[in-house]
Amino acid sequence: MQNFISLAQIDTTAQAIKKQISIQPLTGIILGSGLNDLADSVQQAVHIPYRDLPNFPVSTVHGHAGRFVIGELEGKPVLVMQGRIHYYEGYTMGEVTLPVRVMQRMGISNMIVTNAAGGVHPDFDPGDVMLITDQLNLMGMSGLNPLMGPNLDEIGTRFPDMSQPYDRAYSDLARKVAKENNITLREGVYAGLSGPSFESPADLRFLRLAGADAVGMSTVPEVIIARHGGMRVLGLSGISNKANLDGSTVTTHEEVIEAGKVITPKVEKIIRSVLREL
Ligand code: HPA
Repeated sequence: MQNFISLAQIDTTAQAIKKQISIQPLTGIILGSGLNDLADSVQQAVHIPYRDLPNFPVSTVHGHAGRFVIGELEGKPVLVMQGRIHYYEGYTMGEVTLPVRVMQRMGISNMIVTNAAGGVHPDFDPGDVMLITDQLNLMGMSGLNPLMGPNLDEIGTRFPDMSQPYDRAYSDLARKVAKENNITLREGVYAGLSGPSFESPADLRFLRLAGADAVGMSTVPEVIIARHGGMRVLGLSGISNKANLDGSTVTTHEEVIEAGKVITPKVEKIIRSVLREL
């Protein structure tokens, strides 16, 4: 059997963070590719590089700094992940989702998750922000559910419900604040694939038929783990490129990072406004 991460290991990591901070964060925020700048506006920030934490995987992707930033945003205590861990880096699903487990054992009950995604819905354009209303767990359907292995009964049940991966009240709040700030907020289903190759035109036509509006290489495992532990989740995708269903254009990581510059201020505005009302 594969080595799964134990509760004791999770607690060791959580304690190592707690020792270095004097506040109790209530919201965990995961920043996606190209959206890392948001962490720089955290006040009274304590920075903890992932490499200094026991059991912690280290992000290897360009554009992902790899540290926790803990402090206040809009006066609310937050723990921000500046850089996330992806399955395609070669980590296990347990390692990919360890940060969310650590949040849970630190007493964090809300999660705001962001990502860069390809726009599969024909109306979506690069630079758009999409409220994630539901998700397609394609990684899990092919045997990579992050809950495989011994269940952590102290955290959640063996067979957790997934009827509401993204919290309806938080989604309504995001719609409201986007409107107040004149930000067009798209909505839709996020499909999570392992990557790191981008999708072929046939992959993308399949995803569209399956009901996907956006596609990316993260988020879904983290949200499953968050829901297993009863966290309430708000999800936002930054649409960095248009999915290329006919093979006529090329997708690059550089355009994903570039689009982040347009998306970051909008996502920041939504997150700050939501935090104010949490
Ligand atoms: N596909 C998968 N992941 C992505 C994409 C994409 O087109 N854009 C940004 N992340």
